[in-house]
Amino acid sequence: MKQPFPLPLEKAGAIGVFDSGYGGLTILNEIRKKLPHYDYIYLGDNARTPYGTRSFEVVYEFTLQAVKKLFEMGCPLVILACNTASAKALRTIQQKDLPYIAPDRRVLGVIRPTVEVIGSLSKNGHIGLLATTGTVKSYSYPLEVEKLYPHFNVSSQDCPLWVPLVESGEAKNAGADYFVQKYIQQLLDKDPDIDTIILGCTHYPLLIDKIRKYTPSHIRLVAQGEYVATSLEDYLHRHSEIERYCRKEGNCRFFTTESIEKFKESASIFLQYEVEVQSLNLE
Ligand code: DGL
Repeated sequence: MKQPFPLPLEKAGAIGVFDSGYGGLTILNEIRKKLPHYDYIYLGDNARTPYGTRSFEVVYEFTLQAVKKLFEMGCPLVILACNTASAKALRTIQQKDLPYIAPDRRVLGVIRPTVEVIGSLSKNGHIGLLATTGTVKSYSYPLEVEKLYPHFNVSSQDCPLWVPLVESGEAKNAGADYFVQKYIQQLLDKDPDIDTIILGCTHYPLLIDKIRKYTPSHIRLVAQGEYVATSLEDYLHRHSEIERYCRKEGNCRFFTTESIEKFKESASIFLQYEVEVQSLNLE
């Protein structure tokens, strides 16, 4: 049942982790490794994935629906474990919507924690970004990098076929090689001096073996999970007003906008354990 907004924060709830599909599970895994004692709710909008090719307005609308749903389910804090949603919706939700719908709750993204670490990872400041078309077109990464490391140079390549390859369970199959090699080559053609590549989509760690295969060995590949987890840990240390509302029973529940069977089957690519899943509607 829908609850009226604003939603005051009155009791402890799970930390919400949202993605357009399965990719956010790579982030959830790392967060749970680092912070196992908290409760989590994972929500995948699998029925409407991919977000990467959708307009700003649509990604914003879908993401806001998901955030509101997670707040209704009691989450004091929601992590947008999706670069596309972080790039296209996070700022507007934080600045425009949160003050009205839930002024004491928080929404965090995955771009800032990733950008923060590249300063210590890159030796020459030549950064490559592999991401969805939506994330690349938003310029969120180059803009964030510019703020923290003005002398760095970011070259970006969108990889529109990688998410469909992962979502359809083809990540480990031979057919995927062509598109993995193609986008990496296109990125390196833009800047042959790249020494660090950000995997700026939460689905891409599932293609890591093939990405590694076609990337020169001196280039560092940056998957986001562990950095997002470290950043969340740090955030919770610094924000006791949110942390005290994060329930600590070590439970994790999974929700999808698609069918339960489909989620279970595909989630097994991302998770090494059986999950209990429930279906919900975001519209
Ligand atoms: N996993 C999402 C991201 O990190 C993108 C998937 C999609 O296109 O929906 O950008």
